[in-house]
Amino acid sequence: MLTIDIISIFPDYFSSPLKHGVVGKAIDAGLIRIRPVNLRDFTHDRHNTTDDRPYGGGAGMVMTPEPLARAISALRNEDSQSVVILLSPRGKTLSHEMARELSMFQHLILVCGRYEGVDERVIEKMVDEELSIGDYVLSGGEPAALVVVDAVSRLVPGVLGCDDSAGSDSFANGLLEHPHYTRPRTFMGMPVPEVLLSGNHREIARWRRQQCLRLTLERRPDLLEKADLNQDDLEFLQGLMNEDG
Ligand SMILES: C[S@@+](CC[C@H](N)C(=O)[O-])C[C@H]1O[C@@H](n2cnc3c(N)ncnc32)[C@H](O)[C@@H]1O
Repeated sequence: MLTIDIISIFPDYFSSPLKHGVVGKAIDAGLIRIRPVNLRDFTHDRHNTTDDRPYGGGAGMVMTPEPLARAISALRNEDSQSVVILLSPRGKTLSHEMARELSMFQHLILVCGRYEGVDERVIEKMVDEELSIGDYVLSGGEPAALVVVDAVSRLVPGVLGCDDSAGSDSFANGLLEHPHYTRPRTFMGMPVPEVLLSGNHREIARWRRQQCLRLTLERRPDLLEKADLNQDDLEFLQGLMNEDG
C-alpha cells in the first residue's frame, strides 16, 4: 500500500480535502494511507520554533533545518525505500509521467515549505527530489502537496474503477482528452455530435481519437512530438494542418 506522509506546520490544512472524492474513497478502502505530520512535534524549544532569520540578511524567515531533519529521519522507513520530496518552485514541474512513477513507490514523504523556504543544507542531505506544481509562487507547500497526493493517488491500481479509468485521461496516452457530452441531447441550441448517438463503437472510438488529436494540435502541439501516433493519426493531423493552410 502507498503511504504518503506530509510534513507541515499546518497539518489540519489537510483534514477536509482528504475526506472527499476519489482520494477520500481510496483512503477509506485502505488503498492508500495519507498521514499529515506536525513539524512542531519535532521541535525541542518552548515556542516550537520552526523558522529563523536568514544569514546574510534580507526579507522573510527561513525554515530551520533541525526539526525538518528530525521529522524526516523519524518517518523514513529503510525497508520500503521512502522517497523524500520537497515541494518547491525550484523543482522539476510535476507531470503525468512523474505522478505515475511516484504511484509505484510504497512510501513518499512530502515536505511543505513556508516563509522564504527551507535551509539549503537539509535539502542537500535529506531530500531526494524537489517538485514544483507550476511556474508561480504559493505561500506554502500545502496546496502543492494536495495536488501531488491527488495526481498520484488516482494512478494507484484499484483507486479508479474500470468505468473511471485513468487510461483515457489527458496525458495518459500522450494526448489531451476528447470532449465529453451528456444529457440533454440539445443544450442552448447545440446538439450532441451525431456519431455519439450512432451506437457504432468503432466510429465513436475513431471520432474520439480524432478529437484528441485535433485538441492536442490546437492547444499543446508540443505533446505530439512524443505521442505514440499511427499512420491514420498522422494522416488526420496532416489533413488538419493543410486545412489551416
Ligand atoms: C513563499 S514560498 C517560497 C518561495 C521561495 N522564496 C522562492 O522564491 O523560490 C513558500 C513555500 O511554498 C511552497 N511553494 C511555493 N510555490 C510552489 C510551487 N510552485 N510548487 C511547489 N511548492 C511551492 C514551497 O514549499 C516553498 O518553500
